Amino acid sequence: MKKNIVAGNWKMNTTLEEGKALATSICELIINKPLSAISGNPEVIFFPPFTHLTEIVKIAKKVKGVYVGAQNCYSTDKGAYTGEVSATMLKSIGATHVLVGHSERRQYFKEDDQALAAKVSQAIDNSLIPVFCCGELLPERKSEQHFNVVKQQIVKSLFWMDEADFKKVVIAYEPVWAIGTGETASPQQAQEMHEFIRNLINEKYGMEIANSISILYGGSCNAQNAKELFKQTDVDGGLIGGASLKSSDFFQIICSF
Ligand code: 13P
Repeated sequence: MKKNIVAGNWKMNTTLEEGKALATSICELIINKPLSAISGNPEVIFFPPFTHLTEIVKIAKKVKGVYVGAQNCYSTDKGAYTGEVSATMLKSIGATHVLVGHSERRQYFKEDDQALAAKVSQAIDNSLIPVFCCGELLPERKSEQHFNVVKQQIVKSLFWMDEADFKKVVIAYEPVWAIGTGETASPQQAQEMHEFIRNLINEKYGMEIANSISILYGGSCNAQNAKELFKQTDVDGGLIGGASLKSSDFFQIICSF
């Protein structure tokens, strides 16, 4: 069965102390109202900056259903790659997930489909769950290329996997025009794309696997609009940016199933 998930991508925000306070505050809210008692029994994942991971893992470890992932990893396991961090290293400090292919990585760091496939492979080889991000740019949506763009991203970076590995992946649909803009995809637009993605998976891996993959929505998802989005049949939660930095808002999103 697919899981409901609410993940917070903190991006390049918070000092270590601020990050610890944020994670602690969210964890306290969850201790008071356990995830198992919340409708949809969601999992929660924090994606803090690399520098905070070890400390945030310590905080999250105490709370059932709360996990910690990194925002990126490198495409090979070790060597002379100054400044990079490997999936092996992330695993060694207790991370369980890693974001792969966030649009900001694609846009500012020129990560292409091939590099992203290698990162997914690194994640799987190190027993980390890749949360693979896909989504179209505004001109691509305007020219009605959005389905094709998302299909290409998924086919090129994920569909090389065998069934056993593909089953471990989480997908996040994040239309680039909705990220940090305050302009959310409508629940219908989100559902339509999520259903398209699930159908793609069905064609490649079959219905059972398609129905077991969590597909999250990201892009100006907040405490006000999360409920309508999560109500959609194929929306299994959210990957939250700005609204994940305020504990009360993030907790309200967790309670939106
Ligand atoms: P916002 O929620 O700030 O739009 O960011 C979404 C996002 O990029 C999550 O990865």
